[in-house]
Amino acid sequence: MKTLIQHGRIISASDDYVADILIDGELISAIGKDLAVNAEQTIDASGMLIFPGGIDPHVHLEMPFMGTFSSDTYETGTRAALYGGTTTVIDFILQKQGNSLRAALDEWSGRATGNAVGDYSFHMAVTDFNDSTKGEIKEMIDEGITSFKTFMAYKGALMIDDRQMIGLMEEVKQQGGIVTVHATNGDMIDYLVQKNVSEGKRAPIYHYLSQPEVTEAEASERFADMTNYTECPGYIVHLTCEGALNAVRNATRRNQKVFVETCIQYLVLDASLYEQDFDGAKWVMSPPLREKKDQATLWAGINQGLVQVVGTDHCPFTWEQKQMGKDDFSKIPNGHPAIEHRMELLFSEGVNKGKISLNKYVEVTSTNAAKIFGMFPKKGTISVGGDADIVILDPSVKHTISAKTHHMNTDYSGYEGWDLSGKVKSVLLRGKVVIDDNKCLVEKGYGQFVKRKKVSGII
Ligand code: URP
Ligand code: ZN
Ligand code: ZN
Repeated sequence: MKTLIQHGRIISASDDYVADILIDGELISAIGKDLAVNAEQTIDASGMLIFPGGIDPHVHLEMPFMGTFSSDTYETGTRAALYGGTTTVIDFILQKQGNSLRAALDEWSGRATGNAVGDYSFHMAVTDFNDSTKGEIKEMIDEGITSFKTFMAYKGALMIDDRQMIGLMEEVKQQGGIVTVHATNGDMIDYLVQKNVSEGKRAPIYHYLSQPEVTEAEASERFADMTNYTECPGYIVHLTCEGALNAVRNATRRNQKVFVETCIQYLVLDASLYEQDFDGAKWVMSPPLREKKDQATLWAGINQGLVQVVGTDHCPFTWEQKQMGKDDFSKIPNGHPAIEHRMELLFSEGVNKGKISLNKYVEVTSTNAAKIFGMFPKKGTISVGGDADIVILDPSVKHTISAKTHHMNTDYSGYEGWDLSGKVKSVLLRGKVVIDDNKCLVEKGYGQFVKRKKVSGII
């Protein structure tokens, strides 16, 4: 089947031009002015912006965590992502301490296969690095899982120590992968949480006060130093603050690259949201929201090329699940829903408000993640031979975010009532129109696993 998208304004990480796109099957087969071809389907994109399908490299779907499961399944989560223009997500497999990486992969594949609506890949979270895990790193890379997630926090559950970290980095470097990290100092946080809880300070704001900026700055610097020593490519997930970004800035002085992801919430929300009784639980996530000065640093970091990716860390829970921590902030499941809104929020708050350019928007929502994680140029750009993953956005449409109308499986929104300018009109995934005028046209099972290539650590 051939589809022709006509007269759209095509934006890539470097270009901005009006042209037609011809799609043949799942792939883009031609791009040019006034293409004279017969196609079974024609889409008039006059006045529309055309972006490569969004890639969100940080989501948690059906993740067992803090005594419950994140509330979006592969079906509901990837469908919600498509509504918002994200065609590919990378989810996190969690190794169970004492068990193999293979067992974890089998468990996660079992949940995802046949259920995803949009495309997906996996990072492998290594929570127990030992001789046997070491032997499985190459096996995972051969499966197309080329990124290995580590936690410097969540002591007693997911955290690994520096000895394990160095060992993992040496092996991952050897095999051609990348180590990613939740970089906060788990021991400090554990101490502060226990102290606050024992002093009866149990409201959501103490979640924020138990993870001060220094816990993230210290761990980010330690991680950067360890990647420098081992020469392993490194990527810091959900970086939130000035201190942590300064650690990365320091690393660039020795010509070292540490890739940085921030998330949409850290750009547009701040810690004042914790100053309201239990309602603040909606934004209990780790790291917590920060200060206005940190938002300014992050926007600048994007423009300085220090922050390459804007993800979501989508980890939704229902309001009932959040009640698990009603009397104790340390029991509130950490995470917030955002998979659906990342692209439109960043367009409205970033591009429309003059903070980032259209090209930068494409870089941080799609192209850089594809390059860093070994999917480029199949994903992450609009080019001949690449997957026809395309977002058609109408910049003139205004709309309002609400839990009543969103498609994520949660009954509240962290952005309730936000007015946005610019709305996704249609989305194509591998050549098929999957979203059109707020309707999803595909069923679960359409989404495919994306096998990723080895990574170089250079983009
Ligand atoms: O609060 C968060 N971020 N929940 C998900 C797990 C993680 O740390 O990414
Ligand atoms: Zn994390
Ligand atoms: Zn996360």
